[in-house]
Amino acid sequence: MSDKVYIFDTTLRDGEQSPGFSMNTNEKLHFANQLMKLGVDIIEAGFPIASKGDFEAVQKIANTAKGVQIAGLARANFDDIDTAWDAIKNAENPRIHTFISSSDIHIEYQLKKTREQVLEQAVEAVKRAKKYTSSVEFSPMDATRSNREFLAQMVEAVINAGATTVNIPDTVGYTIPSEFYELIKYLREHVRGIENIIISVHCHNDLGLAVANSLAAIQAGARQVECTVNGIGERAGNTSMEEIVMAIKTRSNLFNVHTDIRTQQIVPTSKLLTHITGVTVQPNKAIVGANAFAHESGIHQDGVLKNAMTYEIMRPEDVGISKSTLVLGKHSGRHAVIDRLKYLGYELAGEELERFFKYFKALADVKKEIFDEDLEVLIGEAVYKEKGRFKVTNVQISTGMYSPPMTLVTIKDREKDGEETFDVAHGNGGVDAGINAVKKITGSSAKIESFNLVAITGGSDALCEVTVTVKENWNGRELKVFGNGVNIDISVAGILSFVDALNKLEYRKKLNGMKEKAEAML
Ligand code: KIV
Ligand code: ZN
Repeated sequence: MSDKVYIFDTTLRDGEQSPGFSMNTNEKLHFANQLMKLGVDIIEAGFPIASKGDFEAVQKIANTAKGVQIAGLARANFDDIDTAWDAIKNAENPRIHTFISSSDIHIEYQLKKTREQVLEQAVEAVKRAKKYTSSVEFSPMDATRSNREFLAQMVEAVINAGATTVNIPDTVGYTIPSEFYELIKYLREHVRGIENIIISVHCHNDLGLAVANSLAAIQAGARQVECTVNGIGERAGNTSMEEIVMAIKTRSNLFNVHTDIRTQQIVPTSKLLTHITGVTVQPNKAIVGANAFAHESGIHQDGVLKNAMTYEIMRPEDVGISKSTLVLGKHSGRHAVIDRLKYLGYELAGEELERFFKYFKALADVKKEIFDEDLEVLIGEAVYKEKGRFKVTNVQISTGMYSPPMTLVTIKDREKDGEETFDVAHGNGGVDAGINAVKKITGSSAKIESFNLVAITGGSDALCEVTVTVKENWNGRELKVFGNGVNIDISVAGILSFVDALNKLEYRKKLNGMKEKAEAML
């Protein structure tokens, strides 16, 4: 049997802390549930001391998660560690992940300490964490730019203090595969006791090498990889979960290791993240991009039709892309729809299911064929978007080549007992007029910075998805969020995306009593 590589998912921590990817507690809970379906071994649920919101989300995930380890991040000080423990203590299987920098540049300029002080702090932090839980992970931050002897000394010291996993981060995405391989090999050869713990790696993608570096580390003996769905994370992101998992699976003979990921859940997980954050992946993104399994060239199409393996090194169904084209329509029964949802990995019940059907019927009335992609979008709309303050209940657009566009919008405000207000506005086109109407109703001064439109399925009756970036100055700081909206009508999708962004701004404003996460980070 080959060795197992543990998948440590940090989408909800390293991923979520990057600009544009923040999620509220409910969204984090939904996403954590999906990570469990995917079969990750460890979920790093957040950085509990960073904010009250982070603490609450980590705690809720820890209290409900089953069959997965829950990690909370903590700097190497007692306050952070105690708070992290407070958040995760009810988890079935809790882990404290503590870290401090090991590179001279960080030690001298950022921490303003000496190597000796940092070493002592690391040891004390691990001992503190160990009092709470047997599972303690330690990361020497900026390991790849650290002095090797000092790094080895620190790793050995934290192992002696009780660390059970030592994670080697390439914090600034600086290393290259051969060098990282040598570093892991060096540590295995020079650190006493390293054979008794799991070596983990955590790579950033600044040079586009995060996955390659993680694979090199596996070849050198690392047995845990820290990664994120769609590769999101600080700056250029982290090792992409889908890429590392499928590289291990596709080239299993070469690596002689395996993961326990249910790969059919990869695409549904990627899509869920896209729906929650409103940030789509580039079409040519490996594994989960829209074109990852699309063959355009005639020679390739011919080969694939004769034998898929001619040009496909992975089967689309292995990553959760269904082969079926036509799925459902206006006459499909409830059963068929529920069956299809189950096949796609969604088990809705109660209110969520009813709301889903309302959306489904509305779409089926105007669109002949409903594809899996449409269903996923409806799930996003019916389940994940229902909890914001504002809800658009009607849009009416009047426009023409020679008449000035005018849009009427009706909005329900959940903070005013569901009171509905409508208003009309003009603008440069239906969307612009609609957004002006929304601003009149909500009093918002938010501005759209970018507007992107994609057609989800083919044909002139395709569902359209609009993603907007919206900015607002609030209490002397600039808040920036993404919003997305889906509708068969481009203008309506645009208006929905703007209102989705307003809901996220409302949420951010509520959280703002606490410090912005970025400030609380190192
Ligand atoms: O990139 C990094 O070094 C980190 C640590 C907290 C592991 O995210
Ligand atoms: Zn990181």
